[in-house]
Amino acid sequence: MTFNPLTEKGIPLEKQLRNWRELDVEPLDPDATDPYTRCRVIVMNGIEIESIMFSHHMARTCPDPEVKRQLAYTRYIEAQQQKVVNWLLPPIASTLETTIAYEQVAVDLTAWIARMEPDPYLTQAYEFGVLEDFDHLYRYANLFEMIERRKAEKVVDGLTEVMPGRPTKMHHRHPYDNVRDPYDRNKVNPLSRLHALTVMSAEQQTMNFYMNVGPQYMEPIARQLYVEIGMIEQEHVTHYESLVDPGETWWERLVHHEYNEVYLYHSFMTQEPDPKVKAIWELHLNMELEQLRVACDLMRRFDGREPEEVLAPELPAPVTFEPNKEYLRHLLDTQIDLTTLGAGYVRDAHERFEKLQEQIHGGEEPPSERVIDMHRERFGTEYRIETEGPHPVKSLRQPEDKR
Ligand SMILES: [Fe+2]
Ligand SMILES: [Fe+2]
Ligand SMILES: [Fe+2]
Ligand SMILES: [Fe+2]
Repeated sequence: MTFNPLTEKGIPLEKQLRNWRELDVEPLDPDATDPYTRCRVIVMNGIEIESIMFSHHMARTCPDPEVKRQLAYTRYIEAQQQKVVNWLLPPIASTLETTIAYEQVAVDLTAWIARMEPDPYLTQAYEFGVLEDFDHLYRYANLFEMIERRKAEKVVDGLTEVMPGRPTKMHHRHPYDNVRDPYDRNKVNPLSRLHALTVMSAEQQTMNFYMNVGPQYMEPIARQLYVEIGMIEQEHVTHYESLVDPGETWWERLVHHEYNEVYLYHSFMTQEPDPKVKAIWELHLNMELEQLRVACDLMRRFDGREPEEVLAPELPAPVTFEPNKEYLRHLLDTQIDLTTLGAGYVRDAHERFEKLQEQIHGGEEPPSERVIDMHRERFGTEYRIETEGPHPVKSLRQPEDKR
């Protein structure tokens, strides 16, 4: 059965407001939760935060008091949705445990989107980025065992492998080389817009998260690793946001934000095994349908265009959390040595890249390398989860696998 968000009926806006009791959701049980349920929570938190911040930015450029009030009302509801979603996270999870889940999201969400993306230039952007978050997962997993004496397999549960990706120290590029070319809003497949918005929102939340939690640790290596990876997440936001056509009008962008929320809540509702969480996805879906209808009305009034001109006629195939191990191994095998030059990709280090590398590393090994060395010193080996065999790149294999 096809689901057309433009004709489905939602919950009237004035009925969307919830009281404190309704907002007080029971958090997930960390020992009994599917890791991908936690991943869906993390994605939807990032999506709701983007919708709030987007609405604030739009309001700041909006001279019409009636529209400003309308935006303020919907934004208040979005803020309630964000609380409900993010307050599902298990309260006893440590910052590092949540960090590992954030990187698992970046890996399996971006890999899935890369597999589904119809435009080859956009696919390349996701394939490039995913190998970096894949490496972050490995660095944080080593830190996790070192300072908390716990293993990342408890968090990712064998669904996502943990091993070196493109080495983190190579992610520090000149900022000019993080700017990609945008898609063309008049030609782009509607699905590509949704993909770009989703990955951008998820990376933005990761950037915000590391900016805030990084200084909570006492151990110098932990503080340093959050500085280093925090800087890279900002590069990732630059990389992904530059894919979006800057010529989209505010109304068009508003409609896309609401449509994407509908798409993702609908996607996650259909695959959620936890009944309490599923009920939240369903409730929020029904809220977003009405928020979308209101946004479409604004677009007709102020942009003089029909939303059908820019939106997909029906929801694309649901965004799915599932293992992407073979696909990631294929990317490791073929794209690990890529870097960027201008809006394109190259295999060789170039002058601008090397200059920045020299400046940022100052002749020393960065925290992302030292964390692995320290782990090897203390445990005799590094932490990995290689469920599908030795690393596909021979030089990145463990010593016992190199033979
Ligand atoms: Fe929302
Ligand atoms: Fe990352
Ligand atoms: Fe990232
Ligand atoms: Fe919304």
